[in-house]
Amino acid sequence: MMKAIVITQPGGPEVLKIEERPIPAYAATDVLIKVMAAGINRPDVAQRKGNYPPPAGAPADVPGLEVAGIIAEVGADVARWRVGDKVCALVTGGGYAEYCPAPEGQCLPMPENFSFAEAASLPETFFTVWSNVFDRGRLQAGESLLVHGGSSGIGVAAIQMTTALGSKVYVTAGSDEKCRFCEELGAERAINYNNQDFGEEIAKLTDGKGVDVILDMIGGSYTGPNIKSLANDGRLVFINIMKGKSAEIDIAEVMRKRIYITGSMLRPRDVAFKSAIAQNLQTHIWPLLASGKITPVVYRIYPVAEASKAHQLMETSRHMGKIVLEF
Ligand SMILES: NC(=O)c1ccc[n+]([C@@H]2O[C@H](COP(=O)([O-])OP(=O)(O)OC[C@H]3O[C@@H](n4cnc5c(N)ncnc54)[C@H](OP(=O)(O)O)[C@@H]3O)[C@@H](O)[C@H]2O)c1
Repeated sequence: MMKAIVITQPGGPEVLKIEERPIPAYAATDVLIKVMAAGINRPDVAQRKGNYPPPAGAPADVPGLEVAGIIAEVGADVARWRVGDKVCALVTGGGYAEYCPAPEGQCLPMPENFSFAEAASLPETFFTVWSNVFDRGRLQAGESLLVHGGSSGIGVAAIQMTTALGSKVYVTAGSDEKCRFCEELGAERAINYNNQDFGEEIAKLTDGKGVDVILDMIGGSYTGPNIKSLANDGRLVFINIMKGKSAEIDIAEVMRKRIYITGSMLRPRDVAFKSAIAQNLQTHIWPLLASGKITPVVYRIYPVAEASKAHQLMETSRHMGKIVLEF
C-alpha cells in the first residue's frame, strides 16, 4: 500500500485528503517511480473542481501530472532506465502519490545538482511550451513571442526556454511585482494588463509590426487584440480559455496578415507524441539546465499532507513560478 492525495469529491481545496491506496500496476514499457516530489499545475485545480475529467487510463481521483523521484521497478521491456536512476516524468495523472508509473519515453534524467522539487517543477510546463511554442507555433530564433500569464508556471517556462534559444519575449501579468519578476527572468517587456492595453503596448514595442507567435491561455475577449498584435504570417496558439471559449474575430485581418490559429491539449495525447517531445527537450533544453542557463523557479514547496494549502495558494494566483509537493 502507499499514501496518495485523493480528490474525495468535486469541490474546494479541502476535498483533497491523504488516503491509503494500492501501489499502482505498471505496463512492460513503464517504470515505477518512488515519488519524492510532485509539481502542481492549474489543470489539477480544474480536475479537483470536477471540470477536467482525466483521460481514459489515468487514475480517476489522484491528481498530478508531473513527478520526480527514484526508479523503484522497471517493466520487462524497459531498455533505457535502471532501478535507482533519478528521473523526472510527465504522467497522465496519479502524481500526488508515493509511487507513480510512467512510460519510459516520458522520463528524463534528473539534471545534476537539482533537488527533487526543482526537477518535479519541469515536465508539465516544459513539455507544454515545447509542443505549443516550438512545434505548433514554429517559433524560430530571432522571432518574437507574446505570452499571457507571464508569471504562471507556463509563462516562466516560456520566458526561459525562448530567450535561451534566441527569441524576444513579451508577456502580460496582473501586477507590477509580477511584471518586474518576468523582466528579471529575461522578458523584453512585461505589460501589466490591469493598467495597460496590451494591444497598444505591443504595437508600440514592435513599431507596429506585431509579434510572430502568441501563446494564449486566456481566450475570450483577448482574441481580437491578439490577432491585431500578430505580425504577417503570425501564429496564435491557444492552451486554455480562462476568459471564455467564444470570440468575434476580424476574418479580413486574418486573411490580410495570413494568420494561423491553432491550439492543443497535452494530457490526452499518446505516449509516442509525448516521448517525441521528451527527446526534443533532452536535446535542446536539458543542456541549458545542466549549464545553469535555465534555473527552475520554485515559488513554494509544501509537504504532501498540505496539498490543500498548495491548491489554495494556486487559486489566489499570488505565486510566481511553480508550486511543488514534497514527500
Ligand atoms: N493545453 C495544455 O496542454 C495545457 C497544459 C498545461 C497548462 N495549461 C494551461 O496553462 C495555464 C497556466 O497553467 P499553470 O499551471 O502555469 O498555471 P498558474 O501558474 O496557476 O498560472 C495561471 C495564471 O493565469 C493568470 N490568471 C488566473 N486566473 C485568471 C483569469 N481569470 N483571467 C486571466 N488570467 C488569469 C494568473 O496570472 P495573473 O495574476 O498575471 O493574471 C496566473 O498566474 C492554465 O490555464 C492551464 O490550464 C494548458
